[in-house]
Amino acid sequence: MANDTNRFLAIISHSKEYGFIFPSSEIYDGLAAVYDYGQWGSELKKNIKDHWWKSMTQMQENIVGIDAAIFMHPTTWKASGHVDNFNDPMIDNKDSKKRYRVDHLIEGYVDKLKADGKTEEGEAIIEVMEALIAQDDFAGLKKLIEDHKIKCAISETSNWTDIRQFNLMFATEFGSTASADDADNKVYLRPETAQGIFVNFLNVQKTGRMKVPFGIAQIGKAFRNEIVARQFIFRMREFEQMEMQFFIRPGTEGQWYEYWKTERMKWHQDLGIPAEKYRFHDHVKLAHYAKAACDIEFEFPIGFKEVEGIHSRGDFDLTQHQQFSKKKLQYFDNDLDESTGKPIGNYIPYVVETSIGLDRMFLLVMSNSYREEELGTPEKPDTRVVLQFPPKLAPIKLAILPLTKKDGLPEIARAIMNDCKSEFKCFYEEKDTIGKRYRRMDALGTPFCITVDHQSKEDNTVTIRYRDNMQQERIPISDVKQMIAKQIR
Ligand code: GAP
Repeated sequence: MANDTNRFLAIISHSKEYGFIFPSSEIYDGLAAVYDYGQWGSELKKNIKDHWWKSMTQMQENIVGIDAAIFMHPTTWKASGHVDNFNDPMIDNKDSKKRYRVDHLIEGYVDKLKADGKTEEGEAIIEVMEALIAQDDFAGLKKLIEDHKIKCAISETSNWTDIRQFNLMFATEFGSTASADDADNKVYLRPETAQGIFVNFLNVQKTGRMKVPFGIAQIGKAFRNEIVARQFIFRMREFEQMEMQFFIRPGTEGQWYEYWKTERMKWHQDLGIPAEKYRFHDHVKLAHYAKAACDIEFEFPIGFKEVEGIHSRGDFDLTQHQQFSKKKLQYFDNDLDESTGKPIGNYIPYVVETSIGLDRMFLLVMSNSYREEELGTPEKPDTRVVLQFPPKLAPIKLAILPLTKKDGLPEIARAIMNDCKSEFKCFYEEKDTIGKRYRRMDALGTPFCITVDHQSKEDNTVTIRYRDNMQQERIPISDVKQMIAKQIR
């Protein structure tokens, strides 16, 4: 599917209307590229987190998780290369004073060409842009912008400054007297969670008696002063990452890189998301730490975009931290070397990283699940909006709906609620017609609803209604908990 702006806008407004995502501090008109997760959004987000955590730690015998602090010693970011290299090429429009990330400015222009049917021309421009970015050829990039007379959306002029690099890290200060410029007190909000893993490599390896190859996983907030922050939660200034650093013997990085590419793609598709909506994209310009890198891209309504990165980082990070901290970050490998018959000995492990944005995964799940369906007949048309979340990720698993507010039906419904709520998230609702209640649960992505009616009093059965096909059947009340638990497993 090409760009589908309307669908994207519908997802954004649905997210707000049904309590998934709100603009941050909205009563003060919001804060650019910062969002709050509402009552159902936070449940969905937590379910994605738990699913990732379980697959990357509990299901892996050689991966453990940590939770490092957001603040780290400032030298961490010098060693990691972020102080010197975590930059994006930017260009300012002299008339509007608006600043753009160069690749985003050109991509925006190409999107318009494609919308006008000039797909080949657009793709040729992207190819040239990628080659220029790979060579850090800023003069060439500026010429590309000028040659195509790319305009600022605000001033509608092509009056551009030269291209310059801007660092994306947020800084603040420790202590009460310092100013933010005081280098001694300056601390950064971490721009990636990975460094919290690298600086703890030996702590975990020694205390956990971990043997290479092994991994350390972490979920946490990261912060980037994205200059062009747009596209809802796709590009935020405060976001969450789910990262895993896999420590390996040097020389085995090729095989582990391929292994994690396959494993991570499998993780996505095991959620029931169609394979054709995914693709790999190899990086043209490698990040300062990477020896090889690719993205897993998903077909969002705004086109194919990165959701996860797999990076072969070599020994860059541990070597840098060893050098800056002057602490040895080596591993003693006592496996026998095949040629000498002696232990392999000390080395700095290589790293293959998997790094997925939690908010982007949230947007992926939303985009893949959102459907507007035409129901009813030509005489009596009807529509519904349904979120077809994989049941294990759905914020509410089971809605319990007494048909009426009287005749003892709420009591039976409450008893089912009390039985089930310790196992999975349930929602009790007795207001409105049953049809309206079903529609509301569809819009929240609740996979199962049960209705308690007068027959329930006679034969201890309820009607279960399935969200996706809207089929209904009667089942014994005694089967409800087990049946839903099995479906969400
Ligand atoms: N440790 C490696 C690293 O941080 P990255 O490609 O810069 O690599 C990894 O980021 C993932 O984090 C991306 O694939 C994306 O899903 C997510 N991400 C990065 N910047 C983001 C932003 N501004 N807003 C939301 N998610 C972001």
